[in-house]
Amino acid sequence: MPQIALLYVGCEGQTRKIMERIGCILTQSGHRTFISSLTELSESFCLHSYDSILIGSSIRYGRHHRSCYQFIQQHAGQLAVMPGYFFSVNLTARKPERRDPYNNRYLQKFLQQIPWTPNRVSVFAGALLYTRYHWLDQQMIRLIMKLTGGPTDITEDTEFTDWNRVREFAGQLSEDLNKASCPQLVNSVAHTD
Ligand SMILES: Cc1cc2nc3c(=O)[nH]c(=O)nc-3n(C[C@H](O)[C@H](O)[C@H](O)COP(=O)(O)O)c2cc1C
Repeated sequence: MPQIALLYVGCEGQTRKIMERIGCILTQSGHRTFISSLTELSESFCLHSYDSILIGSSIRYGRHHRSCYQFIQQHAGQLAVMPGYFFSVNLTARKPERRDPYNNRYLQKFLQQIPWTPNRVSVFAGALLYTRYHWLDQQMIRLIMKLTGGPTDITEDTEFTDWNRVREFAGQLSEDLNKASCPQLVNSVAHTD
């Protein structure tokens, strides 16, 4: 049975949480999954062993994680010939209009920078975890929240992730994977908003 590699990278665990939820839904739908952090991929990992791939990365100070860029650069050849999907996790997406992949500047910039065009992309709002940040990050994020109308109470954490949207994305992915056995159906780029 085909297998999808689910690779994520983040700092405080929200991207992992989202990827695990997607993995759970795919498994329940009968797909075989392999899940791993991009930074902890074993030496023996071989992308050729998988039929498709989903990569998820959070944003830190305006950029997706370096290991995400590195992985895509290193595997550009293989990524070009397999069904591939991507999602971005950030706080800008707590605003509904920024969840639209076309209207999320982080995702748009990222797609211009990488040698890969995923078949489907999405953007999910992450979590604001003031109580877990180091002092400097806490102050920086608080300032950004103040400027953009977000929560500024550093004693409170807020999860903005819309789990219904995550479920919807996983459902679309499941359909894509089912269609992947008919390659002529998966050549178009789909955006999920
Ligand atoms: C130090 C730091 C920098 C961040 N920079 C941004 C940013 O530039 N834009 C944004 O929308 N969100 C930013 N975020 C929010 C994260 O993307 C969000 O909290 C996400 O849930 C983190 O997911 P992770 O736990 O998987 O890393 C930042 C968070 C931290 C802690």
